[in-house]
Amino acid sequence: MSLVVLGGSSSRTLAFKIAKELNVEFVGTETRKFPDGEKYVRILGDVSGKNVVVVQSMYHRPDEYLMEYFLIVDALKDLGAKKVIGVIPYFAYARQDQRFKPGEAISLKTVTKLIESAGTDELYVVDVHRHRVEEAEFSKLAKIPVFYLTAMPELAKYAVKHFNLDNPVVIGPDAEAEFWAKIAAETIGAEYDYLEKQRISDREVVIKPKKLNVKGREVLIVDDIVSTGGTMVRAIDIIKKGGAKRVISACTHPVLVEDALTKILLAGAEALIGTDTIPSPVSFVSVAPIIARSLRERYL
Ligand code: R5P
Repeated sequence: MSLVVLGGSSSRTLAFKIAKELNVEFVGTETRKFPDGEKYVRILGDVSGKNVVVVQSMYHRPDEYLMEYFLIVDALKDLGAKKVIGVIPYFAYARQDQRFKPGEAISLKTVTKLIESAGTDELYVVDVHRHRVEEAEFSKLAKIPVFYLTAMPELAKYAVKHFNLDNPVVIGPDAEAEFWAKIAAETIGAEYDYLEKQRISDREVVIKPKKLNVKGREVLIVDDIVSTGGTMVRAIDIIKKGGAKRVISACTHPVLVEDALTKILLAGAEALIGTDTIPSPVSFVSVAPIIARSLRERYL
């Protein structure tokens, strides 16, 4: 089956790496802005009759990258692409997945609908935010096949290898992150837990690991996103106060707003390890092999 990989302007390097992993052609695009801010897109290659993988993360300027994605996908269909396979390594708008206040837009639903109606035939996402919308429900929202990939095993392996972790325990900073902690822990044969608010008395509440004692332990804290760093800093603080010997932090999507990285290091983490779903100073792990593996299984 003929497969090519195209990189949108947010993910050209990652798309190039995926094409290399798969040993398939990389298709470039010309993108620029008109003086009034509108986007211009041109596909630089022959895509007729081909299955085209479009890699475009939604980081930093999600609206702009989304619009570019729509233009690319629609152009590909006009140019005779057989199938458009959307790879959105960092899927923004996933956190507003329900109406918290009356009148709010459910952004995840809107964006998913637009991605689909632009002409995407199937969608690959990496560690998409999960609070209320479970994978199956997201798939229902999309109506097209959605493939969920995870970087947690690679992040955990990287942490163990590069920081020589000794009998580590993996912790999620909140209940939702237990899902990620479990995957990471199972990869490296470690115990896992998550931080939970526990009521001590009528007047006292503490946040601590639900079941494990971290005193004297080497701890890997994992989460899907580090944005302002607030969640991670709070977790590092609690784990340190619990007597942990070492703390390493890891996340799939290093959004890293403002001084998030500095705050995390000052809080006492030896390092923050992230992936290249969002290029950043901590993108030590590439998701290219993970995405390529999944595409290879299905298309090559
Ligand atoms: C939230 O539910 C996510 O899993 C992350 O914990 C959150 O997005 C991190 O945000 P911040 O770094 O701003 O605390």
